[in-house]
Amino acid sequence: MTELEKDAAVPARDRLAFGPLDIVFDDSVLVPRPWTIAQSTWARELLESAPAGGVLELCSGAGHIGLASVHATDRRLVQVDRDPHACDLARENAAAAGVAAEIRCGSLSEVLRDDDRFALVIADPPWVPSAGVEVFPDDPVWAIDGGDDGLDVARECVRVAARHLAPDGVVLLQVGSPEQFAQLDDTLRECGLAAIEVRSLAGGALAALRPQ
Ligand SMILES: C[S@@+](CC[C@H](N)C(=O)[O-])C[C@H]1O[C@@H](n2cnc3c(N)ncnc32)[C@H](O)[C@@H]1O
Repeated sequence: MTELEKDAAVPARDRLAFGPLDIVFDDSVLVPRPWTIAQSTWARELLESAPAGGVLELCSGAGHIGLASVHATDRRLVQVDRDPHACDLARENAAAAGVAAEIRCGSLSEVLRDDDRFALVIADPPWVPSAGVEVFPDDPVWAIDGGDDGLDVARECVRVAARHLAPDGVVLLQVGSPEQFAQLDDTLRECGLAAIEVRSLAGGALAALRPQ
């Protein structure tokens, strides 16, 4: 490998402010999207009336959404992503934020223990349909490709969240739009969850779910 090739292989690092946090990322992960701070803000509101217990973040990437959700609270945070490099960045960001997050690297259906229960589950799965990923040429395909209808990982997130939700807990799921969220009706019914509110965001949509 030439020196030039070695340089090209090192992901370019950058940082940005995300709410109160200073977040590092690089070009091997999805760049933190500023509008997703709305997921952290809503999560913090939900935590005010959530039962005791920790927060689980599924598809955490560099970790910023979950970190901003629990920062300066006493809620425990467990973050899950299958990309080892994203997990390294999440560890670095958690240390810088002063949050003792536990980062579990692996597929979301494999890294949770049977008895894990959480007061709040945040999920930010890939939600772009495979045929549309070229609309986002700057984003790593594996971070945004959600399969044929964009919802393969979102369905998995709903199932995992339902299995690991504490009684009276709440799920806060990000998808592409309220219309796309409506396609999850069957999965929600199968899991005994129902939407209490759906909000449109600048670049996607959020749905808060509770056990029926
Ligand atoms: C849309 S990105 C969101 C990342 C981060 N929350 C953000 O805002 O930048 C989706 C993330 O899900 C992860 N992912 C995709 N499928 C997964 C799976 N089955 N289990 C765990 N993580 C997964 C990807 O590695 C990627 O980091």
